[in-house]
Amino acid sequence: MKKNFLISFTAIIAMLFSVIACDDSNAKDNTDISKKDENRKALRIISTTCFTCHSPEREIDNKARTGPPIYKIRPHYMRDGITREEFVADISSFLKEPTEAKAKLKGAIRNFGLMPRMPLPDEDIRIIAEYMFENDMTAEQWGKAGKMAMINGEDQSMDYEELGREYAMGTKAVLGKNLMGAIKSKGAPHAVDFCNTRAYPLTDSMAKEYNVSIKRVSDKPRNRNNAANKDEIAFINVLHERIGKGEELGSKVSEINGKIVGYYPIETNAMCLQCHGTPEKNIEKLTQTKIKEKYPDDKATGYGVNEIRGIWVVEMDKK
Ligand code: HEC
Ligand code: HEC
Repeated sequence: MKKNFLISFTAIIAMLFSVIACDDSNAKDNTDISKKDENRKALRIISTTCFTCHSPEREIDNKARTGPPIYKIRPHYMRDGITREEFVADISSFLKEPTEAKAKLKGAIRNFGLMPRMPLPDEDIRIIAEYMFENDMTAEQWGKAGKMAMINGEDQSMDYEELGREYAMGTKAVLGKNLMGAIKSKGAPHAVDFCNTRAYPLTDSMAKEYNVSIKRVSDKPRNRNNAANKDEIAFINVLHERIGKGEELGSKVSEINGKIVGYYPIETNAMCLQCHGTPEKNIEKLTQTKIKEKYPDDKATGYGVNEIRGIWVVEMDKK
């Protein structure tokens, strides 16, 4: 009786142990997998979004050279004895809201201007900061580790909606940063020339960088080459409706002629009104003259803030 009890007791303990042990190893596998996914996602966002200004390798376009490479930024944050948590907190704080006061690279601000805020979810900022802590991101490491090989290749977590959004965000950041620079250095009337001559080549060079096609279209185009087609107008109308009701804007991804095509909203802010607001009230006379000269059938005025100005159209190959 006693012996039996002892045997079954031992059996139960052994069983429990194996269950625990088994659970334990599963848990470990899962964290390994999710860490791998996080790394892959971090690398992808860095490649698509940060890389455009922080490339360690080469310039997208001489005139668009827009920031120091990340491997030169990292040492400014890697102070002696810094913990992972502190590093991640420092980087995250800057990324959530870049300010001159927080910036550690004062010289880079003089050369390139302050970094624009990237509208990334907190969770993505965390995984990017962790990736930056763990990887030195020199040209060799970064170039080989990820970039296009990864984007085009074995990324199992491929999500076209996210990928397209990152391409649009990266392009918007580069366009926006260059536009701000043009307004700051020469004023809005001259920045019209920038939009006129540089918006296309910059968007194209980004698209080439990503190996996709990217364009901006509108239901009220300034440049008639940017007129939205029927499909695009339909989605822009949905966006007008949603913004009117205060609903989340969202995006749309569909398959068109064997390509994956993503639509992402373009909203106005106060800065845009200098060229897309109401003539006289928001648009200076000289700016308006320049616009009329270059775009006689301009339809892109009369906007207020937080309105739908158009959409990004990102066309990707199907993997
Ligand atoms: C449109 C260009 C642009 C994009 C896109 C961009 N950055 Fe920057 N970033 C800059 C510029 C310019 C600076 C240098 C001036 C400054 O420090 O603000 C900078 C500085 C930084 C700094 C150092 C800040 C400091 O001075 O302490 C970090 C960290 C950083 N970027 C991370 C990122 C990450 C991560 C991404 C992608 C999510 C990203 N950047 C995307 C332009 C960009
Ligand atoms: C300095 C003047 C200026 C400012 C500021 C400006 N734009 Fe424009 N925008 C233009 C010009 C000029 C074009 C036509 C570009 C072309 O010929 O490709 C244009 C074109 C566009 C287009 C492409 C569709 C079309 O109408 O041709 C979009 C979308 C757009 N702007 C959105 C914005 C948004 C959003 C802002 C603010 C974040 C903004 N613009 C700020 C001058 C400006």
